[in-house]
Amino acid sequence: MSTAISPTAYNYKVVRQFAIMTVVWGILGMGLGVFIASQLVWPELNFGLPWTSFGRLRPLHTNLVIFAFGGCALFATSYYVVQRTCQVRLISDGLAAFHFWGWQAVIIGAIITLPLGYTTTKEYAELEWPLAILLAIVWVVYALVFFGTIVKRKTKHIYVGNWFYGAFIIVTAMLHIVNHASLPVSFFKSYSAYAGATDAMIQWWYGHNAVGFFLTTGFLGMMYYFVPKQAERPIYSYRLSIVHFWALITLYIWAGPHHLHYTALPDWAQSLGMAMSIILLAPSWGGMINGMMTLSGAWHKLRTDPILRFLVVSLAFYGMSTFEGPMMAIKTVNSLSHYTDWTIGHVHAGALGWVAMISIGSLYHMFPKIFGRPQMHSVGLINAHFWLATIGTVLYIASMWVNGITQGLMWRAINDDGTLTYSFVEALQASHPGYIVRAIGGAFFASGMLLMAYNVFRTVRASDPAEAEAAAQIAVVGAH
Ligand code: HEM
Ligand code: HEM
Repeated sequence: MSTAISPTAYNYKVVRQFAIMTVVWGILGMGLGVFIASQLVWPELNFGLPWTSFGRLRPLHTNLVIFAFGGCALFATSYYVVQRTCQVRLISDGLAAFHFWGWQAVIIGAIITLPLGYTTTKEYAELEWPLAILLAIVWVVYALVFFGTIVKRKTKHIYVGNWFYGAFIIVTAMLHIVNHASLPVSFFKSYSAYAGATDAMIQWWYGHNAVGFFLTTGFLGMMYYFVPKQAERPIYSYRLSIVHFWALITLYIWAGPHHLHYTALPDWAQSLGMAMSIILLAPSWGGMINGMMTLSGAWHKLRTDPILRFLVVSLAFYGMSTFEGPMMAIKTVNSLSHYTDWTIGHVHAGALGWVAMISIGSLYHMFPKIFGRPQMHSVGLINAHFWLATIGTVLYIASMWVNGITQGLMWRAINDDGTLTYSFVEALQASHPGYIVRAIGGAFFASGMLLMAYNVFRTVRASDPAEAEAAAQIAVVGAH
């Protein structure tokens, strides 16, 4: 692939690299998800080895799907969106390349160290200090490239999608650095700088805002660009998008304590987290409605356009999981849901239904554009992927709801004499059918990703990157 890149054209190389790796890491991360889901059905799959045990592979799954798959999707789309909406090339090709290779190095580091058992033990922040430092450096470079490009922009105002991407970049840096403050005792082991309830509070301030700013705000940036583009309609309300932005970032940061209900955390902090989580429903739904209503007058396109279907269904799942979340944050509801598979169902309603579906839809929109093709190789395959993903998500979350409520009710059932009605193993046996359905749902979702990989491969093989660069150059020149 020879590319004669003009200095005025956009830098699509880094977009292409991150986009391809999104598909690669998606397949690996979700494939591993299916594997650990199968371990919960057939424990023999742990193979009696520490490296392949559920406890070590589970954090590898979360790191791969969140940081490798989700991260690459966010980087690819944010670099694409910031260049097109600012009408300028990224400020530095060298720094963008460092960002790409540095990030892949962090992921390879995770793939090596997590199965070996090196971990901080903090959920979603498991990587030990040398990798955490590398990640921080790579992130600062990303911030320099993104904000530097915004500073150099040729357009007057900053498109709302960039505000969401910008907040995601700044807050993730803050969370990562504060939560990783620790004392290294060797190259592979460190201890948190915080202790006891303070450590737990900092960890879930991080954990919840990783959800809020990594898995939500960044993907909302994606939503604000790709939904209007694919629907060929302007965003429903620009004013609502501004209110949505400020309300969301003001509220999210307070909600972390809902992960620590009925713990040693002071009671007032738990109640504050609960109240803020309930209020969070409003901006979340404001954003969902803004996305959905953008389709006003374009609903008929859903009949023929599977890319738009991905985007709209992702918004529906976003609405659903941001209704469920505030309910689960209510202390009495949480006393039933906490520790059960209900939480796992909620997580994947957001992760598969929202995060993965909005990414997949956006990538299908973007791939032909960055590879100089009129459209993806096969629209039929996109449609098949859509149904595999939707059915897979529904199977996953429905089985986990049934399991979660069953477990919660069985654990709390008490006989007249005060003894427990059911043993733990009985609740586990009752969960077995649900685990089988979840593994099947996961396999549906992951096989959809294989269809995507084939479709992308055929599109890329027929592509002409030089043409894509030239088209980008025309877009830049044409705008002025
Ligand atoms: C084929 C798709 C997937 C399958 C089969 C799958 C399966 C699983 C399984 C079996 C667990 C462990 C549950 C437990 O401990 O009981 C898990 C945890 C988790 N997965 Fe997935 N997963 C998939 C996709 C994803 C994606 C795309 C994301 C994020 C974008 C994601 C994020 C998570 C998170 C955050 C957890 C930890 C949840 C918690 O601690 O409450 N997963 N997954
Ligand atoms: C208004 C929005 C939301 C609220 C108020 C909310 C609230 C909650 C609550 C109360 C829990 C259970 C905590 C526990 O019992 O341990 C939870 C867990 C979780 N939620 Fe949400 N949620 C929201 C949206 C989302 C979305 C959109 C996603 C994904 C993209 C998501 C991902 C997660 C994850 C990964 C966990 C599991 C954390 C863990 O224990 O490892 N949430 N959420």
